Amino acid sequence: MSLRITSFEQYQEVYRQSVDDPDGFWDGVAREFVWQRPYDEVCRWEFDTPDVKWFVGGQLNITENALDRHIPTRGEERALLWEPNDPKVPSRTMTYRELLAETCRFANALKALGVGKGDRVILYMPMVPEMTVAVLACARIGAVHSVVFAGFSAKALADRIEDAQAKVVLTADGLNRGAKQVLLKPIVDEALAQVGCVQHVVVLRHLQAEVNMVMNRDCWWDHCVDGMPDHCHAVPMDSEDLLFILYTSGSTGKPKGVVHTCGGYMVYTAYTFQNVFQYEPGDVYWCTADLGWITGHSYIVYGPLLSGATTLMFEGIPTWPDAGRFWQVCQKWKVNQFYTAPTAIRSLMVSGTEPVLACDLTSLKVLGSVGEPINEEAWHWYHTHVGQGRCPVVDTWWQTETGGILLSGLGGLSPMKPAHAGLPLPGIQPVLLESNGQEIVESNTEGALCIKHPWPSMIRTTYGDHKRCREVYFSAFPGMYFTGDGAKRTADGMFRIIGRVDDVINVSGHRLGTAEIEDAINAHPAVVESAVVGFPHEVKGSGIHAFVICPDVGRDEADWQVEIVEVVSREIGKIAKPDRIQFVPGLPKTRSGKIMRRILRKVAEGQTGDLGDVSTLLDPSVVDAIIDGADRFKTGR
Ligand code: PRX
Repeated sequence: MSLRITSFEQYQEVYRQSVDDPDGFWDGVAREFVWQRPYDEVCRWEFDTPDVKWFVGGQLNITENALDRHIPTRGEERALLWEPNDPKVPSRTMTYRELLAETCRFANALKALGVGKGDRVILYMPMVPEMTVAVLACARIGAVHSVVFAGFSAKALADRIEDAQAKVVLTADGLNRGAKQVLLKPIVDEALAQVGCVQHVVVLRHLQAEVNMVMNRDCWWDHCVDGMPDHCHAVPMDSEDLLFILYTSGSTGKPKGVVHTCGGYMVYTAYTFQNVFQYEPGDVYWCTADLGWITGHSYIVYGPLLSGATTLMFEGIPTWPDAGRFWQVCQKWKVNQFYTAPTAIRSLMVSGTEPVLACDLTSLKVLGSVGEPINEEAWHWYHTHVGQGRCPVVDTWWQTETGGILLSGLGGLSPMKPAHAGLPLPGIQPVLLESNGQEIVESNTEGALCIKHPWPSMIRTTYGDHKRCREVYFSAFPGMYFTGDGAKRTADGMFRIIGRVDDVINVSGHRLGTAEIEDAINAHPAVVESAVVGFPHEVKGSGIHAFVICPDVGRDEADWQVEIVEVVSREIGKIAKPDRIQFVPGLPKTRSGKIMRRILRKVAEGQTGDLGDVSTLLDPSVVDAIIDGADRFKTGR
């Protein structure tokens, strides 16, 4: 299959066509896939409810397109490569034929556990090939997968299991992360003590750690799969049937389950994968994300496999056993397209160029960046040292909700500008709006980034709460999908993402809601109230600064800080740990009781000289106390 655009002129032509006649354009793309029943209509939509449907009336199974379809032409070619955490452990490879057989076997195992179409299955797993197999096996039988990043706590896992009302949890004894091992099964057991819907837990032996198995509920992965046939009917799915739920943080409340459906997601992830990365048959493509995030779903599993690509999955971290690990893996597998996050690049920059120069990186053709704005310094380091000045960098902007990349260059075809995500992909109609909804037409002016026409892989709803979907994404600017990001556009139409304009912070490419972290901190019995903001952090992009009211704090401040960090790790996971905890006598509130976060952000950024208008504050004196207390964070900022 090739949906690939091969020149910039062709991109311009295709883009124009995709705006003039979106249905005609997407119909042309969708025809490349196998439909068990053809669709009657390309797109039916309105953004008020919202109600968005793509490839209406069509039926398909995404695994038939990602696996079976490739068997005649590339059945013996490598589909999945696996690089373990420890370079001394053997790596693994699976051909398309093997991956299909394994998917069918596990799909049959799920069926034997009573899992059927529409049932929800939670995955809480290490980055091993079995996780990819399990995701595909769910899709094969029409079960809805929901992967939870295995860094989340038992409480966070329980919340997601409960919200999804999952029937089965797939997990492992534990995972490797650099020099550390994390036992996963005890975390699952703790989560399941809090929820009642789960009937079975399937446990993969990965670390060979001792595991407590609960009778009649838990079963070993290999026992479940043993003797299962390697054929399994691909269940016909309506285009708009659920494919997966993925939980993500917003500015209010608990994380919400973003729902993606089968037909549109399939078409869009394959199309964007081939174009952004300019993947050619035989190439080896590596995305370093975890399957717990949308990047792993769309650009480790679905996009590449739908395109018949060879996709590499990595269990480890960039800095273990040493800072050359990424580049050694690129050399070993002769990686052609490499896709990672700016935070990983920044964490490697501190070790200098020696580990990069020690490896043969001549196979690399395209470098990708995702998850947060890439600062110019990191961009140049990536381009000059990793890409040896000859590989284009694609800065891909997108979100869990968008399902696939919306703004990005096409590797090697489009103009590049450091720190700019670039032009919209075909089918994407971005606009920048002032807060009153007025469209910004001048260049280099910041506005709220919105999308005015649907694209196939966009969010359909937030699981179990459609009203929330409308409020969060479709009510700020009626008739538009609102991204939550602020952006600027250059005179030649390239977008530069400034960052979130809502109360979401991006820590090492992980998206966290400030309200969620505050709720976690407030779970400590001695805390009266807290407010969390982000501050610029050299490696993580944003760090977490927590202002906490805790009247009992005396001289034992350090002990209290440890306790608060523990409570956040317990409620959410270590990824949400505050970098700074500042105990304060009060928070800057307006007379109506609203916290003025703008002031706290300025304090956290160290810009206390210009706090703006503070006249609406109920008690301006708290600001002075907060500024004084923040003084100690000034060094090392
Ligand atoms: O703020 C944007 C930032 O990450 C947010 C989406 O986070 P998440 O749903 O976790 O998905 C991350 C991976 C797709 C966006 O609202 N973001 C993502 N990519 C970029 C980015 N910011 C700037 N440049 C990017 N390339």
